[in-house]
Amino acid sequence: MDTMKAVRAHRFGGPDVLSVDEVPKPVPGEGEALIKVVATSVNPIDWKLREGMISRDLPLPFIPGGDFSGVIDQLGPGVQRFKKGDEVYGVAPNSVGAEAEYVVCPTTNFARKPKTLDHLSAASAPLTAMTAWQGLFDQGKLAAGERVLILGGSGGVGGFAIQLASEADAYVLATASKEGVDRVKRLGADEAIDYKNVRIEEAVKEIDLCLDLVGGPLHGRAMMCIKKGGRLVSTVQPPEAALAQSRGIDAKFFRMEPRATLLVELAKRIDDGKLKIEVAKVMPLESAAEAEELNHQHKVTGKIVLKIG
Ligand SMILES: NC(=O)c1ccc[n+]([C@@H]2O[C@H](COP(=O)([O-])OP(=O)(O)OC[C@H]3O[C@@H](n4cnc5c(N)ncnc54)[C@H](OP(=O)(O)O)[C@@H]3O)[C@@H](O)[C@H]2O)c1
Repeated sequence: MDTMKAVRAHRFGGPDVLSVDEVPKPVPGEGEALIKVVATSVNPIDWKLREGMISRDLPLPFIPGGDFSGVIDQLGPGVQRFKKGDEVYGVAPNSVGAEAEYVVCPTTNFARKPKTLDHLSAASAPLTAMTAWQGLFDQGKLAAGERVLILGGSGGVGGFAIQLASEADAYVLATASKEGVDRVKRLGADEAIDYKNVRIEEAVKEIDLCLDLVGGPLHGRAMMCIKKGGRLVSTVQPPEAALAQSRGIDAKFFRMEPRATLLVELAKRIDDGKLKIEVAKVMPLESAAEAEELNHQHKVTGKIVLKIG
């Protein structure tokens, strides 16, 4: 039997539930491709799934990892748009399976990798960039000239949200701490708000759209910054509905849905130089547990990429 190296979570819990195992290589079905993964990047969903914070019905053991960049190794029945050897980037189904030498993925979830990026940089983009786009435009209906507040601007999703909102001619305010303050300014935020030293409800007013990538107490406090008739879109938690209603805010939670056509659009923007990619740290696949913890503990500002092989 063909096997491959993969990180697996054997039960729900801390980083010690992960091990690198030899497992059967998956086989692509109808409309799917088998992709040789060159790099995968770490997202909060990796440790949230591992800890059982979400989707506790996920069958164990499971292979973590959503983002990937790699090379098509084999096509399943009915796939015509791609061929063996194509370089692609995307998000594995249900954001699991990519911390491995190979991943099976439906063609709806990947596209050709941006030509100007190597696999390490390309792997850092799909999940976060698609979330930023869908949060700002599909859900948030951001329009030119509007004031947008991005909570968590220094993170993976926030970095793309700042750039996309700036390019859409919005006025961008983004929260960050420590070196994240420089990062959000570098990426084009009109105002960086050091949330550890500034109370946003006092410093920020007349927001049209808040993209909440943080949740918790900041979620409710951000509502004070939004004008009547404004919108709040959260990737983290259901909105505080009573507060939103009392302030006349249209607030919602959403889950990113991978879309190949959006990945094509994002790759074009990256290749045109409109979207910058910043990788903060590269680690080997074998360091997946440590990498997930670095993200969980906010010890690295920006994306951590795991290199395979
Ligand atoms: N619903 C969906 O489909 C979806 C999709 C993608 C992501 N998400 C969720 O969206 C969130 C952001 O994802 P990400 O990939 O951007 O995460 P990330 O790269 O780990 O970034 C986290 C961000 O949160 C900020 N932060 C942490 N604690 C904070 C606090 N107490 N107050 C204010 N800011 C705080 C950090 O700021 P500093 O480091 O500068 O302090 C950083 O900007 C995660 O919870 C993730 O699970 C959901």
